[in-house]
Amino acid sequence: MGWIQRAAARLVSRRGDLARVPGPPSVPGLGTGYLYLPVVGRYKLLRLHEANLAKQALYGPVVKEEFQWGKPVIHLYDPEDFRAVLRQQGKYPMRLVNEFVRKYRLERPLLYESAGVAHETGPEWHRLRSVVAPLLLQHGGAKSPHIQSQLKIAEDCVELLRNLRDPCDQVVEDIREVFYRLALESICHLCLGTRLGCLQRQPPRDAVVMIEALKEMFVAYQKLYYGLPLWKYMQTPAYRMLGHSESTLYETIMRYIDEALTDGPERNSLLTSLVRQNRLSQKEISTTIVDFIAGGVFTVTHTLVFLLHHLAHSPRAQARLLQEASATSGEFRLDMLPYNRACLKETFRLTPTVPCIVRILPDDIALPSGYQIPAGVPLFLHFTAPCRDPQRFESPEEFRPERWLTSSATTHQFCLLPFGYGSRMCSGRSYAELEIAITISKLIQELEPLPFDNEPMDLVQKFIVVPAHSIHLRFPDRAACK
Ligand code: HEM
Repeated sequence: MGWIQRAAARLVSRRGDLARVPGPPSVPGLGTGYLYLPVVGRYKLLRLHEANLAKQALYGPVVKEEFQWGKPVIHLYDPEDFRAVLRQQGKYPMRLVNEFVRKYRLERPLLYESAGVAHETGPEWHRLRSVVAPLLLQHGGAKSPHIQSQLKIAEDCVELLRNLRDPCDQVVEDIREVFYRLALESICHLCLGTRLGCLQRQPPRDAVVMIEALKEMFVAYQKLYYGLPLWKYMQTPAYRMLGHSESTLYETIMRYIDEALTDGPERNSLLTSLVRQNRLSQKEISTTIVDFIAGGVFTVTHTLVFLLHHLAHSPRAQARLLQEASATSGEFRLDMLPYNRACLKETFRLTPTVPCIVRILPDDIALPSGYQIPAGVPLFLHFTAPCRDPQRFESPEEFRPERWLTSSATTHQFCLLPFGYGSRMCSGRSYAELEIAITISKLIQELEPLPFDNEPMDLVQKFIVVPAHSIHLRFPDRAACK
């Protein structure tokens, strides 16, 4: 057999492997896109996190779909398969990058020189990542020089909650708005070394503008990432929305970057470290700062909202968290707060803001669950599935942080991947964990989060998973409730 015949035979056999994977039927031209059509579709794009679990119940631990005009994607639900995929991701791990962000940025060479660390691939991604990742570790890790300022930001957040609560029943309405402001204040302080004043009773106009732009950006991401890719050929409403949010964010942040570089080049911030290192161009530095602010507000806000929601419904967890925080209230040391960390893990297990990670492998893979998947097919690793499995977690629907203190050694290492895995994992992880731990530790010592009602929280997926409605909580002073 000549090489052409051999290559053709190999292609047919790889297609054949994929054809064996169960999944919803595909329609010529539309693939499985009909499942998400408004009104008639079985699933809703805004409830993709539920739809993906429903597919596992219907088809088993490996499911094939054909997205966007028939391109195959594979859904995985078994942590042994996750392990196999993540161990084979290669030097330049690749996920389905946001092609629409790349298009938007690369068509504007006056502003952007690359698509940025979160949206680049291959050696270009590696070059950007090897500059920013060590700096983020240095600024955000356990020995972060920002701990004192983060404690002050958390104090200001507590004061804002006090000011916003209703004097009669101590209810703060829609706590998401408070935590957007906290997350923006924190990340801008890390990146620019300056306080924006987002936690004042009346936030500055720029803070409101940036938060609104970020909300718009995530709605656009969801539509562009999962909908039909018509944006490749025309300016769809979602693509215009993306453009509006990107340009608003970029212009606003650029003003602060210029100001930080003229007024405070000596400040200890990520921006000044990047400038001092002189390994990225000015345009690349600006894109990096925009990406960190975009990556660090929505995720941290909703993680904090979920965590507070769980704590409000769990007086037992609150008591233990308070005991731990009070015992270590002198110096802040993350390694002395195991219960605090367990609360975050348990929040991610029950309500992960990012419910799955995606990889595209450079080589074919034989999955432990028995299927052979060709290189280049996007693999969605849905870790919500093992996290809800009663075989792995006793009473999986209950918020029990202590399970992570006793059983983390026996829990499968690939069950819970809230920040991703390997060299492409979230570069803001250590900073996010520090920020969340400090905020919760401060807040719990001053206020007692209590439920507003006993309604269950409904969730939607707007690129990441967020509450479908406003979350109100009561925040009486802790001293007053003794
Ligand atoms: C609770 C908060 C956060 C969560 C749950 C979260 C989650 C994630 C996840 C799952 C990924 C994909 C990882 C992978 O594919 O393996 C990611 C990537 C990323 N995150 Fe975060 N993140 C959070 C906070 C932050 C913060 C505070 C920053 C900025 C300081 C940030 C910046 C980034 C960047 C730049 C990437 C792309 C990294 C790359 O492609 O090399 N994230 N994040």
